[in-house]
Amino acid sequence: MSAGAPDPLWYRKAIFYEVSVKSFFDSNADGIGDFPGLTQKLEYLVDLGVNCLWLLPFYRSPLKDDGYDIADYYNINPDYGTLEDFQTFLHEAHRRGLKVIADLVMNHVSDQCPWFQEARVNPKSPKRDWFVWSDTDRKYSGTRVIFLDTERSNWTWDPVAGQYFWHRFYGHQPDLNYDNPAVREEMKNVVRFWLKVGLDGFRCDAVPYLFEREGTSCENLPETHAFLKEIRALVDREFPGCVLLAEANQWPSDVKAYFGQEDEFQMAFNFPLMPRIFMALRKEDRTAVVDIIQQTLPIPKSCAWGIFLRNHDELTLEMVTDEERDFMYHEYARHPKMRLNLGIRRRLAPLVDDDRATLEMLHGLLFSLPGVPILYYGDELGMGDNIYLGDRNGVRTPMQWSPDRNAGFSRADTELLYNPVIVNPNFHYEARNVEAEMRLPTSLLRWVRYLIQVRHELDPILGEGEIRFLDLPNRKVLAYLRSRGSEHLLCVYNLSKSPTAAEISLPEFNGWTPVEALSGTPFPKIGELPYFFTLGPHAFFWFRLQGPHEPAG
Ligand code: NOJ
Ligand code: CA
Repeated sequence: MSAGAPDPLWYRKAIFYEVSVKSFFDSNADGIGDFPGLTQKLEYLVDLGVNCLWLLPFYRSPLKDDGYDIADYYNINPDYGTLEDFQTFLHEAHRRGLKVIADLVMNHVSDQCPWFQEARVNPKSPKRDWFVWSDTDRKYSGTRVIFLDTERSNWTWDPVAGQYFWHRFYGHQPDLNYDNPAVREEMKNVVRFWLKVGLDGFRCDAVPYLFEREGTSCENLPETHAFLKEIRALVDREFPGCVLLAEANQWPSDVKAYFGQEDEFQMAFNFPLMPRIFMALRKEDRTAVVDIIQQTLPIPKSCAWGIFLRNHDELTLEMVTDEERDFMYHEYARHPKMRLNLGIRRRLAPLVDDDRATLEMLHGLLFSLPGVPILYYGDELGMGDNIYLGDRNGVRTPMQWSPDRNAGFSRADTELLYNPVIVNPNFHYEARNVEAEMRLPTSLLRWVRYLIQVRHELDPILGEGEIRFLDLPNRKVLAYLRSRGSEHLLCVYNLSKSPTAAEISLPEFNGWTPVEALSGTPFPKIGELPYFFTLGPHAFFWFRLQGPHEPAG
């Protein structure tokens, strides 16, 4: 992004890259990725063309939920390096024009956290009231259990405390009690601490669950929104230009509420959209995507959706109907090991049977639907997964850098790796790695890099433009216009696995020339009759529409 005065809306033009320090590069041969390793690989990320890194939790933690169980909010997990290593990393990232945000886990802590340890042993300690205790496990009975495969209740009996404690996730992750002002103050201090160190914002974990109220679902409560607005006010006041991204896996109107009146989150993940992209693909019907985009727009002007195809979790199917979920399981998760809770634990390439056209088309959607694209590390290589690893570890294996030992991720003895590398014959790291793919001009990596470049060139339209869906009878074809002032991009996708034809009526562009945006190839002029396309299986086009009086090129 250009130098000069800092742009407070920088995030709307950015491409985000989600990365786990542990998984990226191991600098000291102990089998675990670390900050010095990530620092060494910054050039790769710059070359890829991404602008903002989202780091998964790197704080001290027993890692029973891969770091989302924090034991010490003010220190780095020593396996990942020191605070100095982290500062060096930030400095080096910033020097290259990259922003960095990190996970902020507000809702819960690890049961190893001293706050909880003190609370459970001493009922008189001020820390006791930092958590949510009860003599019965029947309070807040209207609240769903999220980790259905492992948790039977949101209450767990603590024999030391002699009471139940409340937790929305694993039984080793007690929820903080946000009714206690000291908790609210402490979390503000955590925010201040890391923003002072130099982070550019946070991906705020599990934000719908901060407060509990009897007779409700204990999600999206007004009290929760009010506190989140306090966090935003603090950030705007003390750290202007920093961004807050909400992880709220909710129905459209409930997620939209997290933007507030431009006074809560600048960004929120578009959870409703993600499963519907995969649904539309296998249904070979655009309806699900069109409907959900219409339901998730408009949003306040300074805000942006974070769009993603996959991330470090299972592909969640919490916010779809039972019928839709069955369809998704049938299409994408026939093996029971591919399922977890209400979701599918697979990476992007294996999900679509490594079909190149589909992978390209999905990236076409990711980069041109309204919002900020967020890539998950390794998906740019078409990395595979390992469904035989527990929990969500199968999609969290080491980044594949080269055909060398341990995929070039680590010089440790292979048995030491925190997770094994992918050796499945269809996705073996010996062929699927950065070095090999950089040598092959037609590789997915080279293609994704190119698409990122094109996306940056089309930034004002794609970052800020309006969207208008085009209504054509063939529902296998999804077509929309992204427009900003007199600039227009026509996007057309064949969602089906067979070739198809489409006629798109574009009367207002009579005399204009569609220029294919990835190659610069001009197509025949649009006339009075509907424009006729043929599209190969899962093919897509982006066309810049060139006005009759615009010079060609
Ligand atoms: C959402 C995170 O993405 C997930 O990995 C984690 O297990 C839960 N929140 C609990 O923190
Ligand atoms: Ca290491």
